Amino acid sequence: MARKLLFRVSPGGRLSGDIRVPGDKSISHRAIMLGSLAEGTTRVSGFLEGDDALATLRAFRAMGVRIEGPEAGRVTIHGVGMHGLQAPEAPLDLGNSGTSMRLLCGLLAGQGFEVTLIGDESLSRRPMKRVTEPLARMGAEINSTPKGTAPLVIRPVDGLRGIDYDMPVASAQVKSCLLLAGLYAEGETRVSEPAPTRDHTERMLRGFGYEVGIDGPQRWVRGGGRLSACDIDVPADISSAAFFLVGASIAEGSDLTLRHVGMNPTRDGVINILRAMGADIEVGNRREVGGEPVADLRVRAAPLRGIRIPEDQVPLAIDEFPALFVAAACAEGETVLTGAEELRVKESDRIQVMADGLQALGVRAEPTPDGIVIQGGPIGGGRVDSHGDHRIAMAFAMAALRADGEILIDDCANVNTSFPGFVELAAGCGLAIGQDDHA
Ligand code: S3P
Repeated sequence: MARKLLFRVSPGGRLSGDIRVPGDKSISHRAIMLGSLAEGTTRVSGFLEGDDALATLRAFRAMGVRIEGPEAGRVTIHGVGMHGLQAPEAPLDLGNSGTSMRLLCGLLAGQGFEVTLIGDESLSRRPMKRVTEPLARMGAEINSTPKGTAPLVIRPVDGLRGIDYDMPVASAQVKSCLLLAGLYAEGETRVSEPAPTRDHTERMLRGFGYEVGIDGPQRWVRGGGRLSACDIDVPADISSAAFFLVGASIAEGSDLTLRHVGMNPTRDGVINILRAMGADIEVGNRREVGGEPVADLRVRAAPLRGIRIPEDQVPLAIDEFPALFVAAACAEGETVLTGAEELRVKESDRIQVMADGLQALGVRAEPTPDGIVIQGGPIGGGRVDSHGDHRIAMAFAMAALRADGEILIDDCANVNTSFPGFVELAAGCGLAIGQDDHA
């Protein structure tokens, strides 16, 4: 049996200090992908040395790209050009990383070699038809299990053709997958999103000198272009900052500064939602690095109130709901989330797993098919299962700040997928967290 990591968090405390959380996961993945396909040398700083981004890095190394680092967040990628990737000797193991699998699926659909993508138990359960179906319309040949899940076997085809695709779900992974396939397709590939989703792929493609068109909700690329290497400064991940924004908001006496946080307007839903709940978050020193807005955030404890979360904020805060549910549990009154069925197909079913965990701590939390209803109130101590989902583990760790007993959290090793050093950083700010390995 795999060894499991247990978090043990003592109740109470407050968060204070001045910190920088690790680099943005979405941007780190894309830096490796585009840097590998570019002509020239791409230097990345602030790279996230977490398992997910490292899975992408290893995949490109396995396809013949020379990549130095990471060392203290620095990575140097010697690009091989659009047609320089080589067939890997073995299946590419993408671990827990949905972003790696979905984006690579598009990027590899137009290569001249066969490649197999595999992942861990959680990734092997996640829906891949959302990418394989539109890619098939572009002429790709991709085999999945009958359920539409990984392993995915991608076979070389004569050529891809651009399509005009209306995405049924608001997903940056699907959009990015198709735009990356579109780089290799004949003509234009157009993707319409039902609601705005993170636009790091579009921004970074432009940074590498590739034109990306915007027509209303449509994003499009024309195949056959080239990428020129550039330097990338990866901002701190707002999705990782979110745990600290919530922790400092709910723990009386907290005063915490988070530096160099990515503030892309397609990612800032967590700030909008927390502010609507009454949080005290000051945004200062706004600037732009490499085409991405960043800022320093100062957060102080404040009484929160329950709200009905606006549905248009859902895609803009899609990864932050585990943390936001903890904020809701500490708020006065009821918080209602709707329009968030996508949470059920993340690294875990985040609606069910959070509802189970909150209930185990004595919080009234009722899951609904597309969201949850949470009544704010006291939080007890207890034991919760993160189901190997990094963000669930970190969200419940923050809940201890307001609990009246110790919180034990099972199956926390995957915190390393997005936030290496979480325990040390959180402990340094005042969270009474420790960890135990147990069989
Ligand atoms: C991501 C997109 C989102 C997000 C994931 C990262 C990306 O997924 O949940 O953590 O980097 O494009 P969906 O596209 O499935 O919403």
